[in-house]
Amino acid sequence: MKTIDGKKIAAKKLLALKDEISEMEIEPTLAVILVGNDPASHLYVDHKEKAAKEIGIELRKYIFDENIAKEEVEASIEFLNNDPETHSIIVQLPLPVQLDTNDIIELMNPEKDVDGFHPINQEKFLNNEEYLFPVFPHAIVSLIESEEEDLTDKNAVVIGKSNIFDNVMTHALNNLGAKTQFISCIDKKQFSEKENDVINGADIIVTACGVPGILSCDVISDNAIVIDGGISKVDGKTVGDVDKSECGDREIIVSPVPGGVGPVTIACLLENVVELAKK
Ligand code: GUN
Repeated sequence: MKTIDGKKIAAKKLLALKDEISEMEIEPTLAVILVGNDPASHLYVDHKEKAAKEIGIELRKYIFDENIAKEEVEASIEFLNNDPETHSIIVQLPLPVQLDTNDIIELMNPEKDVDGFHPINQEKFLNNEEYLFPVFPHAIVSLIESEEEDLTDKNAVVIGKSNIFDNVMTHALNNLGAKTQFISCIDKKQFSEKENDVINGADIIVTACGVPGILSCDVISDNAIVIDGGISKVDGKTVGDVDKSECGDREIIVSPVPGGVGPVTIACLLENVVELAKK
């Protein structure tokens, strides 16, 4: 098994961005709305803040209590939507139950939606209209392309549990010439025989389930590229969707967790921040 070094890919992107920002007349800004006490969300935002600072992006955090009223979050988004000093906004997910994720995302000014989550921006991406490449799928494509630039006629499979991600990811791979199938992992701990056959026939496998070890190397074919976008904690350790116990000396390329999709996602986010600041 070979692993893909996400940290190295991210470092290269960040270095290029730092150079680009140093030539800009304005300092790009990113507002992050963070609600509640989820330790993983706080950690992700800390990582984003550190990377942003290192390359010259100003990240402003708007931190709210777990029990915040919906109206207060809405008022902040309204403020940031109209604030000329704020070039881009993210609402860190997941949100506490009293806040409807779709409603909150739809409130964002689509022109500042740096994740690419707003339905208007998803629609644009799916229709191949000009907008940003949504961050998470962009990170996954960057990892795949670091190993295989030509995806023409490759068999790909996207294994996921969110409509937003699944559609956009499938579209991104098809746009690159792959023939992409989709498998839902909602409420699943293992795959059916038919699903295993699809996975076995895939040259490119993208998984974002957050179910530790749901994908075992014994169903993956030799020479496949596997991008593991799942993150879970098991006994205090961060693990992905791929159970590597059967991977051993197989000819399979896997992105590790941690150190794979995570750092590249941050770099792709900051690329989009710079794009929005330039607009
Ligand atoms: N929570 C986990 N990943 C992400 C992400 O890429 N964007 C946002 N907004 N929240 C997240």
